[in-house]
Amino acid sequence: MIRLTVPSLDQSDFDAVEAVLKSGYLVQGPQVATFEHEIARVSQTLNAVAVTNCTAALQMTLLALDVQPRDLVLVTAYSWVSTANIIELCGAQPVFVDIDPDTFNMCPLALEQVLDRLMQNPAMKARVKAIMPVHTFGQMADMPRILELANAYGIPVVEDAACALAAKLEGRAAGSWGIMGCFSFHPRKAITTGEGGAITTSDNQIAWKLKVLRNHGQDPDASGVDFVLPGFNNRMTEFQGALGLSQMTKLERIVKARQDAARVYDDLLKDSPLQPPRVAQNSEHVYQSYVTLLPAQYAHQRSSLIATLKARGIETNIGTWHMPLTRYYRSRYGYAEGDFPIADHVFARALTLPLFEGITFEQQHSVVSNILEILKHN
Ligand SMILES: Cc1ncc(COP(=O)(O)O)c(C=O)c1O
Repeated sequence: MIRLTVPSLDQSDFDAVEAVLKSGYLVQGPQVATFEHEIARVSQTLNAVAVTNCTAALQMTLLALDVQPRDLVLVTAYSWVSTANIIELCGAQPVFVDIDPDTFNMCPLALEQVLDRLMQNPAMKARVKAIMPVHTFGQMADMPRILELANAYGIPVVEDAACALAAKLEGRAAGSWGIMGCFSFHPRKAITTGEGGAITTSDNQIAWKLKVLRNHGQDPDASGVDFVLPGFNNRMTEFQGALGLSQMTKLERIVKARQDAARVYDDLLKDSPLQPPRVAQNSEHVYQSYVTLLPAQYAHQRSSLIATLKARGIETNIGTWHMPLTRYYRSRYGYAEGDFPIADHVFARALTLPLFEGITFEQQHSVVSNILEILKHN
């Protein structure tokens, strides 16, 4: 089976975890602190706060910004459902923004239109509390333009950088553009801690609040135990911290291997009917996923293509989700096809190909030739 993804784990990772397990010190300690230091360094920020997963991280960012019930958070329409769910779970309302057809990221022009509409109405304007772009599949959103629009209205921007550790735009790292950035260390990401996440920020006061929220509301700087806010237990375990730290020593190598494999696919797909991922200027894509677009006339055959490939030992999947069209958001807010035309078209046609550090040329060749052969006979 050519798996969609395989985490890059080796003996040094197993040894790092075993050493912590043997020490008996299992919950958030020096390994987690050093891992946080590494995440902050790569993300070019002053702080990183490690947590249980990126979904928790995203939720904590909205609480740190004091997002209240009935507030509005502008968010891309095309992402893993966590990005919208955490808004809903704060009692706030996601306002979806359509995407760019090339990068699949939040479209700045669509954002501008949504902002223009909301900001004209004083009652709505007061409810807008954050903008949440996603660095989809490992390529950064157009942060300069998004920040320009956000800053014009003084709205904080939180980056959902779940898939984008080490991605850059104009030399500046994912997680360093907004007031906060959130990362995931799920096994489908470049480095993994099993489950795991982190929030980056260069705002020390926000970092303090995130540490409070992570640990039952305890003040991390107080000499004794004191509880200053209601908080979660979103701490990372020490053995995950050790694994993350061990993985971080390989980050550059893993990202380079993924980028090299992406170049191989780009080449194999040249002159084929599939559209390879498009990379914006000055953008360093880290290819958490390699997502192609099928020609429009094949969109209705995508499920059968995925099933046939699976039967032939090749795992593929749809890119990610058109969140407004999932059952919950459809029924709660009445969204329908046509409301986000670019997301409609990308959601119908996206196909993710297997990509991981150890993938071979033969495997990549087999993936592409099987796809082209199946499409030819349909
Ligand atoms: C864009 C995006 N946001 C958030 C998440 C949630 O991350 P986690 O699984 O660590 O909670 C994911 C997970 O894949 C994601 O792709």
